[in-house]
Amino acid sequence: WIEPAGALVLGYLLGAIPFGLILTKLTGAGDLRAIGSGNIGATNVLRTGRKGLAAATLLLDVLKGWLAVALSEAIFPGQGAIAAVGVFFGHCYPVWLGFRGGKGVATFMGITLALCWPCALIYAVLWLGLIALLRVSSVAGMIAALSTPLTAALFGRFDMVLLFLGLSLVVLWKHRANIDRLMAGTEPKVGGGRG
Ligand code: G3P
Repeated sequence: WIEPAGALVLGYLLGAIPFGLILTKLTGAGDLRAIGSGNIGATNVLRTGRKGLAAATLLLDVLKGWLAVALSEAIFPGQGAIAAVGVFFGHCYPVWLGFRGGKGVATFMGITLALCWPCALIYAVLWLGLIALLRVSSVAGMIAALSTPLTAALFGRFDMVLLFLGLSLVVLWKHRANIDRLMAGTEPKVGGGRG
């Protein structure tokens, strides 16, 4: 049991590093939890007007998802999926922030990159493409996340289908305030306006 437990803890500790919060605090851009949606992800960092910081948050949140799985596979071979669960829940429910973390979209992409890279390609195209098209980050993120059980099956990674389905359902759960705003037509668009 030591290997799965090690992968889970390693993943959780990496996932629980709130890069968006750290970067915005360090650079004096304010406390993300009191800005916009209050989320600690890249979309909300963008609402501070700091595009570079938002891009850095996006990259680091993707990277930690990938790194947790890759590192765990190197130290505890065969435990990548367990590390994926750890890093995802670390990001979404970090102990240091009273379990109020991010919504998992960027970290999930890093996980798919490590576990099924063609799935990650489609994830990136859907996510960034839909943001460009619709300018609603939450919708793009939820659709990208929901694509993963389908793409895992498409690329023959049947061992990943259940894991990806479970994580994508958590992504939906974390977006419940966004879903309410979407229904009410008050979800802010990237770059201004509401949709
Ligand atoms: O990845 C988070 C994004 O989908 C929504 O962020 O700040 O608009 O709730 P936000």
